[in-house]
Amino acid sequence: MKEGRVLVTGAAGYIGSHTVVELVNAGYEVVGVDNFSNSSPDMLKGIERITGKRIPFMELDCSDRTQFAKVFEQYPDITASIHFAACKAVGESVRQPLKYFENNLSSLLHLIELSVEDSRRRGIVFSSSCTVYGEPDPENLPVREDAPVKPATSPYGRTKQMNEEILRDCVNAYPSLNVIALRYFNPIGAHPSALIGEMPLGVPQNLVPYITQTAAGIRKELKIFGNDYPTPDGTCIRDYIYVCDLAKAHVAAVAKVLEDGNNDRFDIFNLGTGTGLSVLELVNHFIKATGVNLPYSFGPRREGDIVKVWADPAKANKELGWKADTPVDDVLRSAWAWEKKVRGIE
Ligand code: UD1
Repeated sequence: MKEGRVLVTGAAGYIGSHTVVELVNAGYEVVGVDNFSNSSPDMLKGIERITGKRIPFMELDCSDRTQFAKVFEQYPDITASIHFAACKAVGESVRQPLKYFENNLSSLLHLIELSVEDSRRRGIVFSSSCTVYGEPDPENLPVREDAPVKPATSPYGRTKQMNEEILRDCVNAYPSLNVIALRYFNPIGAHPSALIGEMPLGVPQNLVPYITQTAAGIRKELKIFGNDYPTPDGTCIRDYIYVCDLAKAHVAAVAKVLEDGNNDRFDIFNLGTGTGLSVLELVNHFIKATGVNLPYSFGPRREGDIVKVWADPAKANKELGWKADTPVDDVLRSAWAWEKKVRGIE
């Protein structure tokens, strides 16, 4: 067992749940919190079945400081936190910006306040996004961490940028604090057990849940948003990263924020595979990997979409000793296995 305890906010969420599993596998004591605003207690059962352990958990809202403080009272041995808890729907954030600023900023502010109260709580790993790069200039592809941060195109994206800036200022002011911001590219897939996975409410906005729901017959067909982009096949290019690989990067990041003498106290890592795939290529991988029929057609471009973005993960490969190496066909099979499990399809 490792010393101390890792607090995971948003532990029942998509990336949070997979990260709890990897932390437990790596020998960390954890405590999870979640308000279930966009997640289900079933995920906690899934985590317990996978790990064979009961996971300490408190249902609470991180934007309520009094509630949030209780987890630190109950678990005084917390030494690091991974902060996933946030609202994440891009479209909703445009319609309800205050909800996003209120929730996403106050939750992080409370976490920082409660962390710096006690010098043992020295590490924060923050869940950020490649959305901070906006549409990268062609000379910046693949995207390195020093690529310019562009003005956000949504309040959701802006909360990620603002939270990074808040953390950057706070490490200067509070010497006990060590921070790593992880900028995720496009997380996909589910745990190989099919006991945890992505659970979008309503009509999925993201590509892979839309694909798997179409394959399951819940949606009639996949609309590919635009085939007239300046890319080889005309569809947008992204860096799709397996959620279990992504989860393992958090374990490495926790170890790093807890290292003694870590002198880069606000650090940023891109988490991607380093390979861009077009929407059409991903669809074809899905069909080949699962053998399932996937009706699709081309539709108009979706407003706000970026043409192409993929990561240069060299810094994370070197400094975190981590690499995303699960083949995309395996990843898509895991997403399909999860969808079938949720829908009760044989
Ligand atoms: C989106 C968000 C991003 C967020 C990320 C979380 C936008 C503009 N960006 O990224 O801020 O961090 O999700 O995972 O919403 N596509 C289709 N048909 C569909 C759905 C998607 O063709 O039904 C295409 C999109 O046009 C895009 C690609 O699939 O080219 C990936 O889309 P998506 O999964 O929504 O991710 P992003 O847009 O990259």
